[in-house]
Amino acid sequence: MNLPHSDFGNTQMNLPRIGLGLAALGRPGYINIGHAEDLAYDYVVEAMERRTHRLLDAAYELGVRYFDVARSYGRAESFLQSWLDNGQYDPSELCVGSKWGYTYTADWKVEADFHEIKEHSLPVLEKQWEESKVLLPHLKVYQIHSATFESGVLDNKEVLSYLSKIKQEGIKIGLSVSGQEQARILEEAMMIRVDGIHLFDSVQATYNILDQTMGTILAAAADSGMGIIIKEALANGRLTNRNEQPDFQKSKETLDAIAQKYEAGIDAIAIAFILSKPWAHVVLSGAAVENHLRSNLSAASIQLEADELQTLSNLKMETAAYWEERNQLKWN
Ligand SMILES: NC(=O)c1ccc[n+]([C@@H]2O[C@H](COP(=O)([O-])OP(=O)(O)OC[C@H]3O[C@@H](n4cnc5c(N)ncnc54)[C@H](OP(=O)(O)O)[C@@H]3O)[C@@H](O)[C@H]2O)c1
Repeated sequence: MNLPHSDFGNTQMNLPRIGLGLAALGRPGYINIGHAEDLAYDYVVEAMERRTHRLLDAAYELGVRYFDVARSYGRAESFLQSWLDNGQYDPSELCVGSKWGYTYTADWKVEADFHEIKEHSLPVLEKQWEESKVLLPHLKVYQIHSATFESGVLDNKEVLSYLSKIKQEGIKIGLSVSGQEQARILEEAMMIRVDGIHLFDSVQATYNILDQTMGTILAAAADSGMGIIIKEALANGRLTNRNEQPDFQKSKETLDAIAQKYEAGIDAIAIAFILSKPWAHVVLSGAAVENHLRSNLSAASIQLEADELQTLSNLKMETAAYWEERNQLKWN
């Protein structure tokens, strides 16, 4: 499959515009709708590693070259590296991005009081950088995981200076943002300089048909030269035919009508909506099964009409309601 490409900001990387995130593949529990079924309730480490490798093989064959992991995604980093160690693929043509700041605490269980704990401190950064650097020798993008004002990371001079040292080793430095304050957090991050140089080369943010809050600031970030990665393109499964929520059914009918015209799934329409934004350099698929990945990637061949884009844009939710609903999603 020939995926469209985009310059990833001023990073000198030109990447296919759909990437693969491994949040749902590296650990038994995750919040996506239907996650447990996707893993077939089989949490044997070797079985989950083989499942991940099969999906990575399919993604590579279909043209995907950006792969997104995090220290807190259980064994996602080691599953990705053991796939690369198979020697079938040239790591130099791939872009691997990871994240620090959350520590995985679910002990390989689906049910846990705390699945991950966030701490954006220098000791955590030093520890997790040493771990990810060894696990992923081909790492190219290193991101703060879900930077928030509460975590204080954007005011932590020690942490910012340490990230600047990692940047001098040729690694691109990024941040991911979450929650209702995404836009204000990115605005502040765009102003951060260390020794006069802008620290952040990229941002990973939630943007989709239901939450379009970040549109304006992401366009500005792209204009300023940052690389843009879109996460939760399907609202953790809410923009798929799996969403049985009564208050979503009217929107589902609208999505279905457009999907039928393109003989595609509503997931592909949702991703095509984001691909219509030139500043959306890389849109992440969070698929855990191959037929979902193929359906997500079929978005690359869909060019939505202007009136369809307007109709889809009108399906957006109130930002607060979007994140409230997301916070109710169960780990499964
Ligand atoms: N704070 C952060 O930095 C952060 C937060 C969230 C996500 N991320 C990144 O973004 C990536 C993607 O986000 P996400 O996985 O959270 O959410 P997402 O992409 O919005 O949703 C993925 C969900 O949609 C389902 N799905 C996909 N295609 C489908 C289809 N054709 N039919 C039915 N269901 C379908 C998937 O099911 P299957 O699993 O069955 O395929 C999965 O449950 C993550 O892997 C991670 O790398 C980062």
